[in-house]
Amino acid sequence: MALISGKPGWSTPHESAHLHVAGEAPYVDDIAELAGTLYAAPGTSQRAHARIKTIDLDAVKAVAGVVAVLTAEDIPGHNDCGPIIKDDPILADGLVQYFGQPIFVVIATSQTAARKAAKKAKVEYEDLPATLDVREAKQAESWVLPPARLRQGDAQTAMAGAENRLSGEISVGGQEQFYLEGQISYASPAEGGGIHLWCSTQHPTEMQQVVAHALNLDFNQVLVEMRRMGGGFGGKESQSAIFACIASIAAKQLNRPVKMRLDRDDDMMITGKRHGFEYDYEIGFDNEGLIQAVDIDMAAQAGFSADLTGPVVARAVCHLDNAYYLNDVSINAFSCKTNSQSNTAFRGFGGPQGAIAMEYMIDNIARKLGKDALEVRKLNYYGTNTRNVTPYGQIVEDNVIPELSAQLEQSSDYAERRKAIRSFNENSPILRKGLALTPLKFGISFNVVHFNQAGALVHIYTDGSVLVNHGGTEMGQGLHTKVAQVVARELGISMSRIRATATDTSKVANTSATAASTGTDLNGKAAQDAARQIRDRLTVFAGEYFGADGVEFANDTVSCAGKSMPFNEFIVLAYQSRIQLWSDGFYKTPGLHWDGVKMQGSPFYYFAYGAAVSEVIVDTLTGEWKLLRADILHDAGNSINPAIDIGQVEGAYIQGMGWLTSEELVWDTNGRLTTHAPSTYKIPTITDCPAEFHTELFDNPNVKDTVMRSKAVGEPPLLLPFSVFFAIRDAISSVDDHQQNPPLRAPATPEAILDAITALREGRDA
Ligand code: MTE
Ligand code: HPA
Ligand code: MOS
Repeated sequence: MALISGKPGWSTPHESAHLHVAGEAPYVDDIAELAGTLYAAPGTSQRAHARIKTIDLDAVKAVAGVVAVLTAEDIPGHNDCGPIIKDDPILADGLVQYFGQPIFVVIATSQTAARKAAKKAKVEYEDLPATLDVREAKQAESWVLPPARLRQGDAQTAMAGAENRLSGEISVGGQEQFYLEGQISYASPAEGGGIHLWCSTQHPTEMQQVVAHALNLDFNQVLVEMRRMGGGFGGKESQSAIFACIASIAAKQLNRPVKMRLDRDDDMMITGKRHGFEYDYEIGFDNEGLIQAVDIDMAAQAGFSADLTGPVVARAVCHLDNAYYLNDVSINAFSCKTNSQSNTAFRGFGGPQGAIAMEYMIDNIARKLGKDALEVRKLNYYGTNTRNVTPYGQIVEDNVIPELSAQLEQSSDYAERRKAIRSFNENSPILRKGLALTPLKFGISFNVVHFNQAGALVHIYTDGSVLVNHGGTEMGQGLHTKVAQVVARELGISMSRIRATATDTSKVANTSATAASTGTDLNGKAAQDAARQIRDRLTVFAGEYFGADGVEFANDTVSCAGKSMPFNEFIVLAYQSRIQLWSDGFYKTPGLHWDGVKMQGSPFYYFAYGAAVSEVIVDTLTGEWKLLRADILHDAGNSINPAIDIGQVEGAYIQGMGWLTSEELVWDTNGRLTTHAPSTYKIPTITDCPAEFHTELFDNPNVKDTVMRSKAVGEPPLLLPFSVFFAIRDAISSVDDHQQNPPLRAPATPEAILDAITALREGRDA
């Protein structure tokens, strides 16, 4: 089987597509409920930072159907569900640190009763000073973790000697994950005091561990099962934990099955989001636009606790470079503690927040020099044999950015359209068009080395059907489909013979989160390892049976020396000859090392690349805008499933466009999130997709030995819509003939666009 050259992938439908479209794919809330099931709803803090003086729950308990009200005192084990640092209470114990923090939980015979009752508590607070603003937190040195620093070369000297310098501020907001299926956990008491938990989570093993800690159980007493999520996007990497714990604590105490399904408003009020970032930068560059020095402070809004902020900030630092070689760099990254939801993973995991700052600076340089930003980008791209070391010391081994960018520049007709836009704008005083091409480079691997491992189980039954189980979770991204494809290839059988089971902590143990885009890289390899072991045993048996070498498994047939037999018949013979027809498999990513203090090493196995060209039209009187056309060229290596990968690329592009344009998180002066439902929080819809949308995969087999030489595709394309943001900025800057840099904040809402235009008219350059 040619695994290295050629195109091993094929566009088979998502393994659940037929169930999705028929509404028959069971999510956690669709599991047939056990007799006696109760329902939980949280009672939440109405203050951003306060001590709780008294809680009066009488009115709560008086609501018909209420069975119990639990507070921190009812937690038998640790009152904590933090993924790394233990600073995440399950239920607030005397102190509330953000508006929306769960204080108690109502358990009732119906969801409606529980939710109604939860609103009836009388809580007396003693207010404490609240920090609501990132810059304020940075000023006050209010951190959840110590600052991270990266120094490469000598930024100070290089800056002093630079031909030109620019400095300023950039502001980029956070983003709600807005998974269509909200957070949900369903816990049932199990034999011997244990818990069986169905949980919508990207990280079943961590749910197993936090529940065990909360209940003082051994890990082997908690079983977590996850068949599929209706989206996770990072929001269910760690933050499914609080609900898993609450449902389990209640199930254990009441000895009844308990379901906790979050109301959308509660979900948005309680859970963390993508970190908003504030930047203060200085950049030095020569008269051509070649970058000579970068000095930047990045302040991330961590919220009230650490959660995953440490690795998110580390990834932001390691993605500042994006596709560009930087010689002399100084980065300070701050994990700012604010009295708000604890921010967490969101597709890209800090990478987008790092890279967008560099793109903003490059955009500024271009305007300063009167050049097309693409020219400045091309000048600064990583090189192949020189200018190929990242600020964190990793060599960029397979840089394809210059070729990929050139191919897209051609196929999108960039130069011609640039000219056409210029003449359109000359004749259009109010409606202005803008265009931008932005590249991306994204590092693949967890930036915590030991997470880069996975296990799998493959069973062949005697009818020739195959069951695959692995540590990864399905959230719509097509992981189970791709892993099944890998197994189908290894065994030479069709997809219809293969079924993927729910992820289950009692099958494959000690799994990593399905995150960092590594799901297929890790679990695909583990499943391949398992399938290969079975195939090797079958090959030996077939050799004996057919009495010859050269056994082949293809097209649901086993063949050897001119003879052949249907796969299922051959499996019966193998079984009767007592051949082991199942196997485990394991994989760990080779060659990773990382010094988190010096921020140096090789944290990524390889990089994924891509680029997009976006064209927009902006109404300079109202700030409204529309995306007219998008052209994308993305590197998924040898794609295992081009249809699924293109879906990932286009989905991430539109999702990232939402982050940078319409999705605005607004907290009021009391620290209450006012945008906690789709009525006030605008995610993109089908009408926001461009009428012309060209997406292609770049032909580029992975130079590293990944499964089928593919590349991870889940997160990298989230960086593609930088081109939308910079196209809008391009349109805005036409208002004064590109003489100044519009101070455009993200999200570029109509208000932000009008503010930027006003600033230009008032001569306030960014
Ligand atoms: N695609 C869908 N449909 N739903 C999701 O929740 N999550 C994204 C990405 N694509 C997500 C998705 C995120 S944040 C990650 S890390 C990867 O999928 C995880 O899956 P993978 O590693 O199998 O690509
Ligand atoms: N991505 C997602 N989750 C993680 C990572 C990462 O890079 N590192 C640690 N947890
Ligand atoms: Mo994705 S943010 O790594 O879950």
